[in-house]
Amino acid sequence: MSDQLPSKDVDVLLSAAVAAPSMHNTQPWRFEVEGHVIDVYVDGSRALPAEDPTGRAMRIAAGAATFNLRCAAESLGYGTWFGLAPYPRDEPDLLARIVIEPTADQDDELRDLARQIPHRHTDRKPSDDVPLAEEARVELMQAAYAEGAGLTWLGEDEVRTVLDLILDTDLREIHDWHRSAERSHWVGGERTADGIPSSALGPRSATYPSAVRDMATRPTDRVRQKTTFETAPDIAVLSTDFDAPTDQVAAGAALERVLLTATRAGISASFLNQPLEYDDLRRKVQALTGRPGHAHMIIRFSHHRPHTGTARRPIADFLPKEPT
Ligand SMILES: Cc1cc2nc3c(=O)[nH]c(=O)nc-3n(C[C@H](O)[C@H](O)[C@H](O)COP(=O)(O)O)c2cc1C
Repeated sequence: MSDQLPSKDVDVLLSAAVAAPSMHNTQPWRFEVEGHVIDVYVDGSRALPAEDPTGRAMRIAAGAATFNLRCAAESLGYGTWFGLAPYPRDEPDLLARIVIEPTADQDDELRDLARQIPHRHTDRKPSDDVPLAEEARVELMQAAYAEGAGLTWLGEDEVRTVLDLILDTDLREIHDWHRSAERSHWVGGERTADGIPSSALGPRSATYPSAVRDMATRPTDRVRQKTTFETAPDIAVLSTDFDAPTDQVAAGAALERVLLTATRAGISASFLNQPLEYDDLRRKVQALTGRPGHAHMIIRFSHHRPHTGTARRPIADFLPKEPT
């Protein structure tokens, strides 16, 4: 085995990693490659201090990137060993260390999921009112479980409560200028490297509150086309038993495993995370699942297949700068 991963393999691995979802498409990760080890760090310069003051969303994004990296490694014929947040006290920014080595013992499921990475996009369009098949729900629960998280489907009453919590969040946000300034920095317009372009916002909902998060901040986006969203959305909550940094990174890996599994089944997803950005409402969301734990994502699944993605920065941006 050579001492270094071939650079074309590193390109494939990192391109897969950065295709992961991140809040507002901030892409808050950076990588260091040494021999056959890839370290995934959080990039504090991409933080969202108003909407994600504790950095939980950044750790979820890094966990999702780590999962993509593992899938891509399998697609190249490697196997992986990994540790999440291995040195939380001494190196809190190091969120995953992945050892990538040739193996005869491939993970076929991860190799298969790697094919879905370019097709997964957040889909903020309405779905039909046809509920997801029970087999699909169970498969998505198993995907979360495989990465150490839980996915709980909400019943009609709980979905109504989530919509009430969304209303509650919107009322709190009305006068929160820090949040709206931060969001308008990242959302709207044409975006060629990061952030959410207007084209990915989807239509406005004709009813309120509804099972879609309207991320619009700009006057032109606020008057975009309106449409009706499904009346009985398929919503699930992704949670972990504990809430340490490692659990948040694991939640990100579970999120991406769920999303890639869904993509393979022709199911797309968007997120209604606004109540999770307030500790008291986050506890209420977790209570709706009927289990102890910590909610990380409120996911709305739909039968729609998205075609438009969001841009990513060039890979060189995520690596240490060469000395000049
Ligand atoms: C932790 C986290 C929180 C997110 N919260 C929301 C949200 O509340 N509403 C939403 O529409 N999208 C949300 N997203 C999705 C991102 O906006 C999306 O991943 C990003 O814009 C990149 O686009 P893509 O998923 O299509 O690649 C979230 C993503 C992550 C990882």
